[in-house]
Amino acid sequence: MILTKGLRKAFVSRQGREKKTVEAVRGVDLEVAEGEIFGFLGPNGAGKTTTLRMLATLIEPDGGTATIAGADLRRDPGGVRRRIGYVAQGGSTWDESTAREELVLQARLYGVSKAAAQARAATVLESFQLAGYADRKCKTYSGGQRRRVDIALGIIHEPKVVFLDEPTTGLDPQSRAHMWDEVRRLRDEGMTVFLTTHYLDEADALCDRISIMDHGEVVASGSPASLKRDISGEVVRVSTPAVTAAAEVLDSAAFVTKIETSEDGVRLYVDDGAAAIPLILRALDAASVELGAIELHRPSLDDVFLTKTGRSLRES
Ligand SMILES: Nc1ncnc2c1ncn2[C@@H]1O[C@H](COP(=O)(O)OP(=O)(O)O)[C@@H](O)[C@H]1O
Ligand SMILES: [Mg+2]
Repeated sequence: MILTKGLRKAFVSRQGREKKTVEAVRGVDLEVAEGEIFGFLGPNGAGKTTTLRMLATLIEPDGGTATIAGADLRRDPGGVRRRIGYVAQGGSTWDESTAREELVLQARLYGVSKAAAQARAATVLESFQLAGYADRKCKTYSGGQRRRVDIALGIIHEPKVVFLDEPTTGLDPQSRAHMWDEVRRLRDEGMTVFLTTHYLDEADALCDRISIMDHGEVVASGSPASLKRDISGEVVRVSTPAVTAAAEVLDSAAFVTKIETSEDGVRLYVDDGAAAIPLILRALDAASVELGAIELHRPSLDDVFLTKTGRSLRES
C-alpha cells in the first residue's frame, strides 16, 4: 500500500544572519502492506511528522520516491490525495461548529452531494460513538471526543490509507483505549492505518508492524514481537538459596543458551521463556533444589530502541 525509497527532507532556517540546516528525514525506506496498522515509533524530533507530511503531499521531498495506494507521489500527487486521509497532530475542528457540520463540510469538499454527505456524516457519527453530541459545538467536547471527530474527518471520504499523527497524545488512559479500539475497527473494515507515536506501549499493543525512527533514519522495522525476539531472547530469573546446585542442574539443559549466577539466584537466557519455565521447575524439583521465586523478563521495545540507538526512548 505504501512503498518509499530514500525519502529525504532538510529544512533551512535562519537565525539572524546564520543559516541552519536540519536534516529532518535522511533517506527513509518503508513498506506498508494493505490492511495493516503500521506505526512510526520515535522520540520527539525524530522526523515522524515530516515523513507523514511528505507522504500526504503537504511538503515536497528533497529526494527519494514513494508510491501510495498505487499513485506516484511526484508524478500524481492529486491521485495520492484522492486515496488518502490525513489527520494532523493538532486539532482539525473549529470551536464554534458542530461535529456534524464539520463532517458534512469535509465530505462536500471531496465532491460528495449534499444528501450523500449528510448520510455519510450520520453513519460516521454513529460508528465513532459521537451521535449523542453531534449537534453541540466542538468547544464543548472532551479531549477524547474532539480527537475522535478529527479521525472521523480524516476517513469520511473512505480513503484506502489514513495517516494519523500522534492520535493519542494528550489523551487520558480511558480515551486512549477507546481510540485504540477505533483504530482497530478501521483496520478491520479494510483500511490501512499509518500512525506515529512516541509511546512504547502503544506501538507494542496496537501496531501490526512498526518502524523505529531516530534522527531522521529508520533504525529497525518489523512486528513488535519479532523486533523484541531478535535482540536478546528472554531471561528467566530463578531465586534460590541453593545457587550452586541450581546452576549445576540448569547448566546442562539444552534450552538454556547462557547462565549467570548471583548471590541469591541464577539468570537463564532462553529463546522462549514461557516454554522454559515448566522445564526449569521440573528439573529443579527432580534434583530436590529448593526454589524461592521464578520470574520471566521479556525484552520490551525500549530494549530494542536501546540496542539500536544506545539510549532509552523513555528517557529521550
Ligand atoms: N518547518 C520546519 N522548519 C525547520 N525545521 C523543522 C520544520 N519542521 C520540522 N523541523 C525539524 O525537523 C526535525 C524533525 O521534526 P518532526 O518531523 O516534526 O519530528 P517528530 O514528528 O518525530 O517529532 C526536528 O528537528 C524539527 O525541529
Ligand atoms: Mg510529530
